[in-house]
Amino acid sequence: MSFRSSLMMVGCMNCYLILFMALQLTLAVEENSTESGQSTEGRQKNEVNNLTNDGEKQSIVWETKCPESCRCTIDLVPHFKRIMKTVNCSFSDLQIPPRKIPDAAQAFLLSGNKIEKLRKLPHVPNLEYLDLSNNEIEIMDDFYLFSHFKEVKCLLLNNNRLKEIPTGSFSGLLNLDILDLSNNRIKTIYKHAFAGLNHLQTFNFEGNRLSELDPDWFEDMYDVKELILSNNSLTKLDSQVFKSLPELISLKLAQNNIWDIHPNAFEGLKKLTLLDLSNNKLALVPSKQLKMVPNLGMLLLDGNQIYKIQEDAFAFFNITELSLSYMPKLTILENKSFSNLPNLILLQLHDNQELLYIDNHAFYNCPLLKVLYVHNNKLMALPAELQTLLPSLEEIHLYHNPIRCDCNAYWIKEILSKPANETKIIFKDSEKVICESPLNVTGTPVEQVLDTKFSKVCTPTSLPLFHDEYKLDLGEELRLECHALGVPEPQIQWLLPNGSVLNTSVSNGKLEVHNNCTLIVHRVNGSDKGTYSCKSFNSVGFDISSTAVKISDKYIRLVPGPVSDDYISVSWNGSTHPSMITEYRLTYRQVGAKTTGTIHIGQSFQTYAVTRLQPSTTYEFCIIYMYDTESYTIDCINVTTKATSMANAGITKIVDETVIVAVCSILGILLALGCVIALIRKFRNHQDYEQPFDQDESESMTNIPLNSFYQPLNTPLYSSRASLIKPFKAKDNY
Ligand SMILES: *[C@@H]1O[C@H](CO)[C@@H](O)[C@H](O)[C@H]1NC(C)=O
Ligand SMILES: *[C@@H]1O[C@H](CO)[C@@H](O)[C@H](O)[C@H]1NC(C)=O
Ligand SMILES: *[C@@H]1O[C@H](CO)[C@@H](O)[C@H](O)[C@H]1NC(C)=O
Ligand SMILES: *[C@@H]1O[C@H](CO)[C@@H](O)[C@H](O)[C@H]1NC(C)=O
Ligand SMILES: *[C@@H]1O[C@H](CO)[C@@H](O)[C@H](O)[C@H]1NC(C)=O
Ligand SMILES: *[C@@H]1O[C@H](CO)[C@@H](O)[C@H](O)[C@H]1NC(C)=O
Ligand SMILES: *[C@@H]1O[C@H](CO)[C@@H](O)[C@H](O)[C@H]1NC(C)=O
Ligand SMILES: *[C@@H]1O[C@H](CO)[C@@H](O)[C@H](O)[C@H]1NC(C)=O
Ligand SMILES: *[C@@H]1O[C@H](CO)[C@@H](O)[C@H](O)[C@H]1NC(C)=O
Ligand SMILES: *[C@@H]1O[C@H](CO)[C@@H](O)[C@H](O)[C@H]1NC(C)=O
Ligand SMILES: *[C@@H]1O[C@H](CO)[C@@H](O)[C@H](O)[C@H]1NC(C)=O
Ligand SMILES: *[C@@H]1O[C@H](CO)[C@@H](O)[C@H](O)[C@H]1NC(C)=O
Repeated sequence: MSFRSSLMMVGCMNCYLILFMALQLTLAVEENSTESGQSTEGRQKNEVNNLTNDGEKQSIVWETKCPESCRCTIDLVPHFKRIMKTVNCSFSDLQIPPRKIPDAAQAFLLSGNKIEKLRKLPHVPNLEYLDLSNNEIEIMDDFYLFSHFKEVKCLLLNNNRLKEIPTGSFSGLLNLDILDLSNNRIKTIYKHAFAGLNHLQTFNFEGNRLSELDPDWFEDMYDVKELILSNNSLTKLDSQVFKSLPELISLKLAQNNIWDIHPNAFEGLKKLTLLDLSNNKLALVPSKQLKMVPNLGMLLLDGNQIYKIQEDAFAFFNITELSLSYMPKLTILENKSFSNLPNLILLQLHDNQELLYIDNHAFYNCPLLKVLYVHNNKLMALPAELQTLLPSLEEIHLYHNPIRCDCNAYWIKEILSKPANETKIIFKDSEKVICESPLNVTGTPVEQVLDTKFSKVCTPTSLPLFHDEYKLDLGEELRLECHALGVPEPQIQWLLPNGSVLNTSVSNGKLEVHNNCTLIVHRVNGSDKGTYSCKSFNSVGFDISSTAVKISDKYIRLVPGPVSDDYISVSWNGSTHPSMITEYRLTYRQVGAKTTGTIHIGQSFQTYAVTRLQPSTTYEFCIIYMYDTESYTIDCINVTTKATSMANAGITKIVDETVIVAVCSILGILLALGCVIALIRKFRNHQDYEQPFDQDESESMTNIPLNSFYQPLNTPLYSSRASLIKPFKAKDNY
């Protein structure tokens, strides 16, 4: 598109060359390069004359003292639109660069050799072009390596094996316009690695291994106009990361793993006109972030993980061209997905294999949109409203979509039936716009289907937006979308498993319905399972589509732990999302009783003990999921305390002895002994509370956190709730 090429020209004029630009242009220039080289520069430089021979490039030998295994020519240098005195040592199996080359050399080519360590380069005062690409360079050893090359404008180090860029690597290159470090293995860039590159215009860093960007790197190249960081390992863009690049016009960040862009990431990019974010992991259009880029003209978001273009996603941008193709998940274009785009001319929305629905009002205030690419999608219809909403629309690429040839395609048929000079809109390759349904016209091009098969009104057709079933885990969010085609425009109702019908926008803590089309159930629990249906209806009829929702909690189960006559411990296995843990409770009660004790499950402790229970009694323990007023029981177990404890056994022994003594003693001693026993008993019990697991069970219980002990203060389990929980001084969950 013209925008792309005009952008290129900016770069070319600046530095007499075309580099790193779109492939087709590079090729085209090379094809025609000899002529243009001769006609413009050739006349001025009198040492150069005839370079062409039937359109084929032919170099002139440069009579000079040429180093061994090199060719010295006067030649048009690739990417440069200029003819230069060239020392060409490319593809010569060199392991070190020649020690001396002619002083008059302007271009020095060392591409495709076997240089591993770059230590020394000959001193050439007039050198403007240095090509070290396609070698095996791992290290640039000398701090002063490039310090003599004040005139060099283009330095190519691409396709080497560099791993890091040390401080000051490029110092001395005061006139450098282009630096190509693409396709190396660079992971590390030291502070001020690019010091001295005050004049740099194009920086190509594609195909390296950067995982993050440091704004400091760019401080030394504040004049850069084109920055290429594609095909690295970036995942995030931090705040103000490009703030020292006020001159930047083109920023390419394609083929990374970017999923997170800070709202201020693009701050300072006042001149940016092209932004390429394609093939990343974005789940939403970064609308807020792009508001920082007032002059953005072209935005590429192809190949991201976007499901839906949200309302006003691109509003107020000065965009002329927008590309949203090859998105594996893009399914829905909402009401006003493309709104307030006064300069938009071309929209690429093709090859989105899941794109099913374009809302009738997806476009709003796009007065200049002329070309719409929506081919190779899954569209059954295109809104007839496009004719009025897009006054400048001229060309639609709709082929390779499963078109439904009923009332929804009526307007398309109408246009296709008219002679070309009577319609404003044309459908490109209209013979490939083919009906897929209804069955009796399947496979027929729309333009060939008889007019009588199209009606002006028809019953709604629900779009297949539901999966057959949804399996959710407890606490997750259920999100369903429903849209339907039909004329008149269908309305939507939701039917919930419990029989409720929702036909308006709803928003309570649990349930939300947006625009009648999106249903969200927050924090699902077992009672939310069942069949969800969406009914679309208009004055002609209705259609229903349904899906089954299953909620799984299988992964959490209670298991009994050690038990004595007065305490029970239970564990729960399985895991849950850490953020949800506070929504779980452990309850316990004596079977048959009403009062319940509740334990908030904190952090990741999975074993809890309850003490001061009654012997030989069955207690029911349950783990429940609770949020606000909702609660859902996940699992319960019954555990029975033991009949007698160790303490009692010991006491019984003492009692036996006492009985022997009592045979020959007076009642007073017996009474005194009774007191002693009472004391011992009390002491023993006290000990038990402090160290309940100090005997054979101690090993298995060591993992019990201290604050998981629940010691009802005075006996009863069934006392007030506050008194049930003793050790909550540290963290007050109530
Ligand atoms: C290259 O030259 C051919 C023939 O002269 C011409 O048709 C074509 O448009 C030129 N291409 C460019 C990019 O100038
Ligand atoms: C190129 O120019 C040289 C003289 O500068 C002349 O001898 C030669 O024949 C020319 N070649 C062609 C192909 O025009
Ligand atoms: C340099 O030499 C190589 C190998 O002979 C050749 O492929 C390449 O086109 C030459 N480059 C220039 C600019 O002449
Ligand atoms: C990305 O860079 C690697 C080398 O770092 C290269 O092998 C690969 O082909 C590049 N991928 C693309 C899509 O350019
Ligand atoms: C928007 O773009 C147009 C043409 O591309 C340009 O003339 C205008 O200055 C831009 N406006 C802003 C606010 O950048
Ligand atoms: C689309 O949005 C506009 C304004 O936000 C609203 O008035 C209109 O009702 C919406 N249309 C639908 C079908 O939701
Ligand atoms: C369109 O072209 C046909 C002949 O090709 C002509 O008869 C007709 O009048 C034209 N219509 C308009 C509106 O120019
Ligand atoms: C084709 O199917 C539509 C409905 O699916 C029906 O109304 C129409 O009569 C059928 N036409 C023929 C020729 O079978
Ligand atoms: C059905 O379930 C929804 C969501 O859980 C709830 O808001 C609604 O009150 C329920 N309706 C009936 C009749 O129970
Ligand atoms: C919503 O549905 C209820 C029951 O089906 C009905 O009484 C009510 O009129 C509907 N509201 C609208 C706005 O359609
Ligand atoms: C939702 O449906 C009701 C009636 O069913 C309708 O009045 C309302 O306009 C619809 N809202 C949207 C945003 O479509
Ligand atoms: C526990 O025992 C009670 C009474 O026998 C019974 O109703 C309840 O279902 C049991 N709970 C479990 C989880 O077995």
